[in-house]
Amino acid sequence: MTRIEKSGSYTLGTRAVNRLGYGAMQLAGPGVFGPPKDKAAALAVLREAVAAGVNHIDTSDFYGPHVTNQLIREALHPYRDDLTLVTKIGARRGTDASWLPAFSAQELTQAVHDNLRNLQLDVLDVVNLRIMFSAHGPAEGSIEEPLTTLVELQRQGLVQHIGLSNVTATQIAQAQRITPIVCVQNLYNIVNRRDDALIDELAEQGIAYVPFFPLGGFTPLQSSGLQVVADSLGATPMQVALAWLLKRSPNILLIPGTSSVAHLRENLAAGDLVLPDDALAALNALAE
Ligand SMILES: NC(=O)c1ccc[n+]([C@@H]2O[C@H](COP(=O)([O-])OP(=O)(O)OC[C@H]3O[C@@H](n4cnc5c(N)ncnc54)[C@H](OP(=O)(O)O)[C@@H]3O)[C@@H](O)[C@H]2O)c1
Repeated sequence: MTRIEKSGSYTLGTRAVNRLGYGAMQLAGPGVFGPPKDKAAALAVLREAVAAGVNHIDTSDFYGPHVTNQLIREALHPYRDDLTLVTKIGARRGTDASWLPAFSAQELTQAVHDNLRNLQLDVLDVVNLRIMFSAHGPAEGSIEEPLTTLVELQRQGLVQHIGLSNVTATQIAQAQRITPIVCVQNLYNIVNRRDDALIDELAEQGIAYVPFFPLGGFTPLQSSGLQVVADSLGATPMQVALAWLLKRSPNILLIPGTSSVAHLRENLAAGDLVLPDDALAALNALAE
């Protein structure tokens, strides 16, 4: 059993993945735009992740754009059979690096084909429909039309499983009336717990919840309370933040992002961290 396997696994649709995975967004250039500052380092992160037992990598063709998928292909193709690549569609990048909605049937179809080409795959393992109704987080509105397009692409054999990102509980329920949903990817971490009720509902249904920004995102978590607990355990704050998520619910899958092999190793070691009851109580009190 690898070290990563000790923190457990979960099934995404039909695909078993270790709960400790990796998010590739940080591998693109500054602002998730353009090529990485150090391509060799980016390839090394991907190779080390898989060598360490990571079999769930989160990506998108709008990181770069195209950059992270091309790095994944260069570092890892031909892919191990057990590697699950989860991508997302529904956005595009402006020439000024802005993030723009891309929900028309034509844009979604193009995005699936772009992902297939850049990852060099015949079928995408999991595609998340990333909803972009508001720049400030999930916002209500029907997702029937874009989801129906994605279901059609699945029917054509281009997509194995469908997930959702940046969605409300109402949108998830709407989607489930149209097609099975295997995962939900929303913002959640030790200080931002708006999805607490949703996580529990999805756990009951056997649906994975994959928090983005598990370490706080572009401004990594800074909390004196987290630091105190980390010091008491001889761990780092990032490891404690990840261990807390692993403890929070068995359907939570981790995709911490990093462009550094040292940070990758640190993050993957979070699976070894046991949180005693007093530490857990202190961490539970950190919600903003
Ligand atoms: N669905 C969506 O809308 C959405 C949105 C955002 C992200 N995502 C996905 O979620 C994944 C995770 O999110 P994220 O990468 O944005 O944020 P994150 O995992 O919360 O944090 C990444 C940041 O933390 C730093 N970091 C990582 N490990 C560290 C460590 N051990 N010590 C100190 N700093 C550390 C990284 O810098 P270094 O590079 O220097 O390590 C980077 O600045 C992404 O890779 C992407 O696949 C999805």
